[in-house]
Amino acid sequence: MQRLCALLACVAGALYGQCITLTEMDPRHPALGSEAGKMYAIACTQCHALPDPRRHTPREWPGVVERMKEHMAWANTVVGPDSLKTSPVLDTAEIVRFLQRYARAEQKAN
Ligand code: HEC
Repeated sequence: MQRLCALLACVAGALYGQCITLTEMDPRHPALGSEAGKMYAIACTQCHALPDPRRHTPREWPGVVERMKEHMAWANTVVGPDSLKTSPVLDTAEIVRFLQRYARAEQKAN
C-alpha cells in the first residue's frame, strides 16, 4: 500500500516535474478517529500518502494547504462545455486546525 501511495505521489508529482517522498502519519494515531481527522485522511490521501502533521509548523501549514487546493483545482479542471464543469469546494479550515494542533513546534528564534 505504501508503495502504491509512493507511486501515485510520483505520478501526481511528475506532472509538476518532481517526485515527492512523504513521511506518513501513523495510521493508528488516535486523532484520526475524530471528525477532522477523518476529513483530513480522506481529502489528503487522494494524491499521496497522508503527511505526518509534524512535517510543518502551525505557521507553515495554511500555506501548504493553500497550495494543495491549487493542485486540487487543477486536477478537477474539465476541458469542454461549461455544463460539464463542476466546482466542489473542500472546506479546509478544519483540516488546517487539525494539522496545526498536531504540528511540529515552531522553531525558537535564536
Ligand atoms: C490533487 C492532488 C493532491 C491532493 C488532493 C493533495 N495534495 Fe499534497 N501534494 C500534491 C502534489 C502534486 C505535491 C508535490 C508538489 C508540491 O509540494 O506542491 C504534494 C505535496 C504535499 C506535501 C509535501 C510538500 C510540503 O510542502 O511539505 C504535503 C505536506 C502535502 N502535499 C499535504 C497535503 C494536504 C494536507 C492535503 C489535504 C488538504 C493534500 N496534500 C492534498 C498533490 C495533492
